[in-house]
Amino acid sequence: MEAFHYESGQLRCEDVLVELLAERFGTPAYVYSQATVLGEFSRLKESLSSLPHLVCYSVKANSNLRILSLLRQAGAGFDVVSGGEMARALRAGAIADQIIFSGVGKIAAEIDAGLEAGIGMFNVESAGELELIENRAAALQRIAPVAIRVNPEVEAETHPYISTGQIIHKFGVPKDEALGLYRRASASNHLKIRGVACHIGSQILAVEPFLKALDEILALAERLQSQGIGIEYIDLGGGYGIRYADEQPLDFETLGRGLTERLQAARYRLIVEPGRALVAKAGILLTRVLYVKQNRRKNFIVVDAGMNDLMRPTLYGSYHEIIPVRDQTRGMLEADVVGPLCETGDFFAQDRVMPNVEPGELLAVLAAGAYGFVLSSNYNTRPRPAEVLVNGGKAELIRRRETLEDLIAGEVL
Ligand code: LLP
Repeated sequence: MEAFHYESGQLRCEDVLVELLAERFGTPAYVYSQATVLGEFSRLKESLSSLPHLVCYSVKANSNLRILSLLRQAGAGFDVVSGGEMARALRAGAIADQIIFSGVGKIAAEIDAGLEAGIGMFNVESAGELELIENRAAALQRIAPVAIRVNPEVEAETHPYISTGQIIHKFGVPKDEALGLYRRASASNHLKIRGVACHIGSQILAVEPFLKALDEILALAERLQSQGIGIEYIDLGGGYGIRYADEQPLDFETLGRGLTERLQAARYRLIVEPGRALVAKAGILLTRVLYVKQNRRKNFIVVDAGMNDLMRPTLYGSYHEIIPVRDQTRGMLEADVVGPLCETGDFFAQDRVMPNVEPGELLAVLAAGAYGFVLSSNYNTRPRPAEVLVNGGKAELIRRRETLEDLIAGEVL
């Protein structure tokens, strides 16, 4: 059974009535299902079970400490893109050697922190970065473990803002330059080559682009081996697509089979960096209807959550299903579901056929567990929402709602 489901016309998260969560924790609030996070993680692990592998959860998708700690306890490593994310992962109990540090703009202080913590690998995105990492390692008398993030030049069909694996994108090193960087790294006393990495984009539904990317980086790894440059890890990045509307989600099993066929005979250890696929479905944004208003042409359902709480519809035009917490037979209306912010872009849905809801009712914006809270802001001086974790019949606050005091704490009058 799906974690979010109706029973006697009432939405539940696992065994808890969502309506009671709104009473207890207020709205807007993010509500996450523990069983879904752990279920998706173990489904993915299962599909890779015949390969030596490490799932490094991509912290950027949802970085709440409790979510990280759940995944850590289930055996995850972490993919981080900032010193802040690395600190969160370590705080949540990560094994340092199982942290991968990606990102195009690492600064010296972040590199130092990674070296001092003893992280598993820096995924290097440019010649300049390789040089800085080498210098920092020399200064701290350490040996920095590195992989080069190669741009495999694979086209993956997704939103242009989250596609990364083509030559026009800022990410990774062009294939033909990678070899030179590996040679440089292998000649250094302060760098240790551990892997080859890539990441082709996000919300990718088809398996083929991943297999093509794998073929590309495997070919590079073989070439490196033949030149005496040993490779331990093949890091294929993340990007597994989920269902928001009627998409067929990326199938872990088919992907697992394809990866296994290609890697079975090799001696590499596979790393994958899923973010969205582990947490998106596990979360809703719970919000209360404030008003229903009409102008001459349109209906508007005004809710108490806004684009500052969930940016995806505004930023990418993303579709999120929105359902009422009380399921009852009633008329429908076509409406925009909008927030209270002073921005025309402040919407969760446009021209959507919605149940005829009333002020005071609760709505759930689905598949909001990934790139939801993490992209939230305080725009319009709005405190960010509470985060609640449900486990079976229990619900727990895992981040309290911000207060006005939190928002102005750093300011000087
Ligand atoms: N590894 C690297 C190097 C990445 O850049 C990303 C995502 C991931 C792993 C995880 O990708 P995932 O499995 O979550 O697709 N804010 C956008 C998504 C941005 C993804 C950025 N990189 C959204 O809300 O759709």
